[in-house]
Amino acid sequence: MAEHPSPHHPPHHAPPQPDRRDFLTKAAAIVIGGGLALVAPAAGLLVFLDPLRRKSEAGTAVKVATLDALPANGDPVQKSVLATRVDAWNRTPNVPIGAVFLQRLKDGGVRALNVACPHAGCFVDFRNSEDGYHCPCHNSSFSLDGSIKDPTSPSPRGMDELPVEIRHGTEIWVTYQTFRAGVREKIAVI
Ligand code: FES
Repeated sequence: MAEHPSPHHPPHHAPPQPDRRDFLTKAAAIVIGGGLALVAPAAGLLVFLDPLRRKSEAGTAVKVATLDALPANGDPVQKSVLATRVDAWNRTPNVPIGAVFLQRLKDGGVRALNVACPHAGCFVDFRNSEDGYHCPCHNSSFSLDGSIKDPTSPSPRGMDELPVEIRHGTEIWVTYQTFRAGVREKIAVI
C-alpha cells in the first residue's frame, strides 16, 4: 500500500535542510568579497579628492604689501596673505591663506607677525591704547615685538614672527607659515 505523507510527519526522503554554517560561511564570503571589491575604487577616490595634493605657497615668500601701506609712526597694519593654490586640475591665484601684522621699524625694516594666537589660533587684535596686541578668546596680551606682555596670558609663547624681505625697494615679501598652537616650541605646520 502506498505511503501517504502526513502533514505532521515529513516523508523520509524530504530534501535535506541547508546547513546553517554553510549559509553563514557563504554570507561572510560575500561580505568580504564585496568589501575588497570596494577597496580599490575607494582608494582611487581618495587619491582623486585628497586635499593634501593641493599645494599653496605657504612656506615660500609672497608679496603682501608695499612700504607706503605702513604708517610711519610704527603702528602695525593687518594684511591678508594671498597665495596661488595648485591642485591636480587648477591653479587658483589670490587664495587667502592667512594674515599678518606688518610694522615699520625704526631701522627701516619691517616686522611681520602671524595674527594667529599661539594659544588656540584665534586672531589677535592690535590695541593702539595698549601699544600691543590682545587676543579676544582668552585674553592673552602681547607687546609690539610679539613677546608675551602679561605673564598670566595663557599663550605658551609669543606671537610667531615671520621672515620678511624688502624687494625692489618697496615690496614687502613675507615667508608665510603657520605653527602648532598650544605648545611652547615654534613647530611649523605643513
Ligand atoms: S586663543 Fe588666544 S588666548 Fe586663547
